[in-house]
Amino acid sequence: MLFKKSQTIGLDVGSGYIKLVRINETKTGQELSLFDFIATPHGAIVDGIIEDRSLVVQAIQELLAKNKIKDADVVTAVAGHSSVIVKRITIPKMSEEELSKSIKVEAEQYIPFDINDVNIDFQILGDSKFEAGQMDIILVAAKKNVLNDYAEALETTGLTPVVIDVCHFAVSNAFEFSYGVLDNECIALVNIGANSTNLIIVKGGYSLFTRDTPIGGNVHTEALMSDLNLTLEDAERAKRGLSVEGISPEQVNQIILNSSEEIFSDIQRSMDFFRSSISDEEITKIVLSGGLALTNGFKETLAERVLMPVELLDPFKNLAINPKLDDKFIKDMAPIGVVATGLAMRRSGDK
Ligand SMILES: Nc1ncnc2c1ncn2[C@@H]1O[C@H](COP(=O)(O)OP(=O)(O)OP(=O)(O)O)[C@@H](O)[C@H]1O
Ligand SMILES: [Mg+2]
Repeated sequence: MLFKKSQTIGLDVGSGYIKLVRINETKTGQELSLFDFIATPHGAIVDGIIEDRSLVVQAIQELLAKNKIKDADVVTAVAGHSSVIVKRITIPKMSEEELSKSIKVEAEQYIPFDINDVNIDFQILGDSKFEAGQMDIILVAAKKNVLNDYAEALETTGLTPVVIDVCHFAVSNAFEFSYGVLDNECIALVNIGANSTNLIIVKGGYSLFTRDTPIGGNVHTEALMSDLNLTLEDAERAKRGLSVEGISPEQVNQIILNSSEEIFSDIQRSMDFFRSSISDEEITKIVLSGGLALTNGFKETLAERVLMPVELLDPFKNLAINPKLDDKFIKDMAPIGVVATGLAMRRSGDK
């Protein structure tokens, strides 16, 4: 072959971990050929914004070197209530072309940022069920400076950023890839990372509602550190169920349970808001992803609190796994790889 075909990777740059996923096309279908992650240096990413570029670049370079990636096209995502807005809105019916021209005007009232500071995208969902002559769209607005920061950091690592997506879409794409488009079920996808919760309510391939809140697994880490006087490292060990001198698993579980209250109420509040203000669709279950999903007992306790089934999202369900990969690591850590998998699935045709 004269020209090396460039590879595409999905890279989810979170405040807790930077996750890398690569999916290859094989004769028999799609195969997961890489899944790995590295801890994000403390304080380098705050609320979806790069605070310390050189630390982020160093960590990404380390992750790439470990996985022998020299150059690649990369798809990444931004999230966070202070830099991205994803909203379902109802506007007068018009063609996609017309909307492209008028989207700035239509969007202005829904965006709490200066319209000139954001990149705007939209997706037409279809005619409004409630108002004649109106249609529903998903409006996406992301701050240009935040997008540029990510693109520049990635370029510094030698990668070529080809798409900067929004975390919500990556989660729902990964969900649909694994479980299909469910026309009759309204499902809450809840992705909980170190410092954020993305909640996306989907039905039949569309998101009916999305919400980002700045709360995540760090509430557990902080509670363990302050209640048991632990270092950050020991609190992280305790969370994973590993032994820490002088601390019993019961103590750890109790602190995790108590500090989960804040997260449970946040999810409950979002679902209550959806029910009271957005739709009378009944949410049938929660599908959970992100690092917090790995916390022992969290899924079960959440199910008791919200009175509905809670399942873990396995983004690798419909992928063959390359035999060189560690099957157990992949199965155990799958919920952490959801966003990166949704990103890696984007093909050049989507750009
Ligand atoms: N095995 C585990 N058991 C319990 N918690 C874990 C485990 N592994 C990771 N976590 C927790 O998951 C969180 C990181 O998850 P994730 O990688 O999804 O977050 P992130 O995407 O980096 O964060 P954010 O999106 O909020 O910036 C951390 O709070 C970490 O302590
Ligand atoms: Mg995340």
